[in-house]
Amino acid sequence: GLSVIEASKRRAAYRAVEDHFDTSYKYIGIGSGSTVVYVVEAIAAKGREVTLKMVFIPTGDQSKQLIIEAGLPLGSIDSLPPVEVGHTKMDGVSALEVATGLQDLGLKGKRQSLDVAFDGADEIDEELNCIKGGGACLFQEKLVATAAKKFICVADSRKLQPRLLTKWKTIPIEIAPFAAPTIKRILITLGSPDPVIRQGGSAKAGPVVTDNGMWIMDAPFPPLVLASDLRHGDHGDGEHGTWEVHHLGRRLKRIVGVLEVGLFHGRNGFQVASAGEEGGGQKP
Ligand code: A5P
Repeated sequence: GLSVIEASKRRAAYRAVEDHFDTSYKYIGIGSGSTVVYVVEAIAAKGREVTLKMVFIPTGDQSKQLIIEAGLPLGSIDSLPPVEVGHTKMDGVSALEVATGLQDLGLKGKRQSLDVAFDGADEIDEELNCIKGGGACLFQEKLVATAAKKFICVADSRKLQPRLLTKWKTIPIEIAPFAAPTIKRILITLGSPDPVIRQGGSAKAGPVVTDNGMWIMDAPFPPLVLASDLRHGDHGDGEHGTWEVHHLGRRLKRIVGVLEVGLFHGRNGFQVASAGEEGGGQKP
């Protein structure tokens, strides 16, 4: 049988698909990691009459393989039909199910061409901001997530913490290899004591190369704060040793050579509103 953790990932995945997969949907984003494996399993279990009318958009090579092996129709984020362009109000609603560890980051808008994207996360705070990139797929994940009307983050309860960087200690940042030394120096000045280029370990000598030909810099920071935690005079800009989630996300993204940051937060389109369900989330 499955371990307790695996069983709870699987339960959360089936629950997410039960609640957020509509048979009328056309375009569906599929994230990366070990939890998403169960999401794909649950979707495939809906049957070919349902899934063959849909297009599944991967967030990397692992995700692409999952889609193909499950017999689901494969699409690509760069080959979607154009959508109506207009102003998008980032006023998503969200629900949080602590029992199964299920997260739902809702997002409404017309610019989004995917009906829904399902993905995992490494850590999630009480405002439903997430750290992602433990599996090195963060750029395509963010691309797909921000192109989706709803972003459903599926996670077992270990990953839910009051603040980010509580148990998961580093922010994965996808960078151009050529810029690695410069970026490392900048990160140190921003208060990250020892940023490291992720190595392939026994699987591969040298840096991990992402699906986009980039490297991953894992940057440790002290636990991040929410705007509501800030004391008078502290702007959460790192000056007093504290970084507020959105502030740090924007600051890291500004560094030349950074492709994408593994912080998924409001200003990137993950504006999260209320919850209202049992065990519910919080208002930002
Ligand atoms: C991939 O880069 C990540 O963002 C994953 O979504 C995240 O690491 C969660 O993976 P697991 O489901 O394997 O924990």
